Amino acid sequence: MKRPFAMIAGTGHAVPKRRMSNDEFQALGIDTSDEWIRDRTGIRYRYVAGEGETLTSISTEAARMAMQAAGVTAAELDAIVLGTASPDHLLPSTAVEVQAALGATRAVAFDIAAACSGWLYGAQVAEGLMAAGHYETVLVIGAELLTRIINWKDRNTVVLFGDGAGATVLKRSTRGRGIISAYMRSDGTLATLLHRPKGGAACPSTPEIIAEGSDKIQMAGREVFKNAVRSMADACDRALDGAKLAASDIDLLIPHQANIRIIEATAKHANIPMEKVFVNVDRYGNTSAASIPIALDEAVREGRVHDGSVVLFVAFGAGFTWGSMVVRF
Ligand SMILES: CC(C)(COP(=O)(O)OP(=O)(O)OC[C@H]1O[C@@H](n2cnc3c(N)ncnc32)[C@H](O)[C@@H]1OP(=O)(O)O)[C@@H](O)C(=O)NCCC(=O)NCCS
Repeated sequence: MKRPFAMIAGTGHAVPKRRMSNDEFQALGIDTSDEWIRDRTGIRYRYVAGEGETLTSISTEAARMAMQAAGVTAAELDAIVLGTASPDHLLPSTAVEVQAALGATRAVAFDIAAACSGWLYGAQVAEGLMAAGHYETVLVIGAELLTRIINWKDRNTVVLFGDGAGATVLKRSTRGRGIISAYMRSDGTLATLLHRPKGGAACPSTPEIIAEGSDKIQMAGREVFKNAVRSMADACDRALDGAKLAASDIDLLIPHQANIRIIEATAKHANIPMEKVFVNVDRYGNTSAASIPIALDEAVREGRVHDGSVVLFVAFGAGFTWGSMVVRF
């Protein structure tokens, strides 16, 4: 494959209606404060899905926005790749539910389980499918309803996560625009630092499992933090090397939005000043697979990404999974 092969032709995002501030946790009996959450994470708000809102509904809304921006109809989609750790159903995939909602009858559709790296993995899988020759137009979505899979009594996790969906349409590259370099890694030996211990096929849900909350996300925060900084820093170097670019060639860094301190440490390592880093973790919390495509859509609509912009993406998530990508718009 000769790069750039695939380009990002349109973006969109959607969130549930309800926005929840840090102050609201105390009313739910959680021993925390706005000050603690802002100091340790940079988060001020997150969106929380309510009745009738599903992963399929917000993904479909984000997809329609991205397709309109790209000038692509549902009938033109060859594939739908959806990164998520919180699918509407364990069977079938949310991607096929989005396919049905869009009426994208020709599209092959499947989910990718790579947690916070879901969109980044999805974009690289889409590029590979396109390079294999059968696909011209691929919808890549990152979407989560994490508030449905967290333990609302666990202050270590409940304050961090939020709901949302981001979508991108990938098309064949023109005029030298598109993915110039890409990097993906995984390390399953550290899986239990951030996981849902029970409730899957290995240990199906029982009333006891539900009562103790072991079917919900559990995290060793400090260990995850250290691994995230180390892996994202390395991934930035790899993507820049692959693109044969220096940090000063990057117009914007769009990192996974988990924690402002992780973002700042990554930017510092990559030698990219914070003015060139897109940050919206304050307004969304950690939306896992959705965080990068939501940030990208905001950056495009704010004019921070335009024709000719060179953008470095970097992600890290449960698994562990991580990776990076340099894209010329
Ligand atoms: C979770 C995280 C914010 C905690 O910050 P930290 O500076 O590492 O804090 P510590 O782990 O040292 O915990 C400090 C104390 O705060 C407490 N604490 C945890 N959550 C709290 C909350 N919501 N409110 C108040 N106190 C809290 C802890 O219980 C701990 O108390 P202790 O010292 O009495 O045991 C941080 O570790 C983090 O961001 N980790 C990565 C999380 C992440 O991004 N995950 C997804 C990756 S994709």
